[in-house]
Amino acid sequence: MTEVQPVRAADRLSAAEIDDVLALADAAAQADGVYPLSEDVVLCIRNGGAGVHLRTSAGYAFLEDGAGELVVHPAHRRQGHGTALLGAIGPTELRIWAHGDDPGARAFAEHNGFTRDRVLWQMRRSLLDPLPDVPLPAGVTIRGFRPGFDEQGWVEVNAKAFAQHPEQGRWTLDDLLVREAEPWFDPAGFLLAVDIADSLLGFHWTKVHPPAGLDPALGEIYVLGVEPSGHQRGLGAALSVAGLRHLAAAGLEWASLYVDESNEAAVKLYRRLGFEVHSADINYHRG
Ligand SMILES: CC(C)(COP(=O)(O)OP(=O)(O)OC[C@H]1O[C@@H](n2cnc3c(N)ncnc32)[C@H](O)[C@@H]1OP(=O)(O)O)[C@@H](O)C(=O)NCCC(=O)NCCS
Repeated sequence: MTEVQPVRAADRLSAAEIDDVLALADAAAQADGVYPLSEDVVLCIRNGGAGVHLRTSAGYAFLEDGAGELVVHPAHRRQGHGTALLGAIGPTELRIWAHGDDPGARAFAEHNGFTRDRVLWQMRRSLLDPLPDVPLPAGVTIRGFRPGFDEQGWVEVNAKAFAQHPEQGRWTLDDLLVREAEPWFDPAGFLLAVDIADSLLGFHWTKVHPPAGLDPALGEIYVLGVEPSGHQRGLGAALSVAGLRHLAAAGLEWASLYVDESNEAAVKLYRRLGFEVHSADINYHRG
């Protein structure tokens, strides 16, 4: 039964509030089998940044630029926390990511006038299965990312490679630096394809996730991008395989990646490399 729950809004959370929100997200992950917040939102919770944090006694929502995520503690659902958080955001145009294609989230979204818009797949492949040999185009070599040297070039190529992508194409130097400061960051797993003049043509940034819940350790194709003028020369496939070999050599048995269901070129590439759909995140839209 939906009740009215008071909402507090803040630009930044105190250390105790950060702990509370992350504990709430952990409780939801335990109950739902999927972590309810994206990496971007967790980084904003922990480090601050643009965006607004909304909280009820048992719910949390993050909102930035008309897009948000929300989660309610599993022991306090159907008590109006989700509705109150949405109410505090107001009747404006809004996008919400729901991680996992949960029927409860679907019912809540429909009840509040949202429709399904984008679907983001997580695909996986065993790294114990053999990888194809994909040669690099002539004159192209692969080297590791050099912190303090490669940042500007990477931000530029990333923006071009993801010009059509609503989130990835907007990453700034700060978005890169905040990730370089994370404990998981490993420049040896951040592969750059360069020409003979050392100009950046494309990259494959991998990220290793330790085992969590039911998930084994995962080596993620975190961001893979090729400068548009270098498309269709086999560079994406060669960079993918080079990164997957790096992950396999590091002892990982599973590779994962996220891709928009509608990104035909990327989905085709990943299917050819043996990836299959593992789960889906749904972007709901109202407005
Ligand atoms: C989806 C979620 C945020 C809903 O939060 P909540 O506080 O339980 O939602 P409310 O109590 O405000 O529910 C409002 C209405 O939505 C609908 N609804 C919510 N959860 C539902 C469910 N599991 N099954 C069917 N209908 C549901 C109902 O119509 C409900 O009204 P009612 O209880 O009077 O029937 C919560 O289940 C959650 O945290 N899920 C995991 C994170 C997630 O998926 N977030 C993205 C949401 S789009």
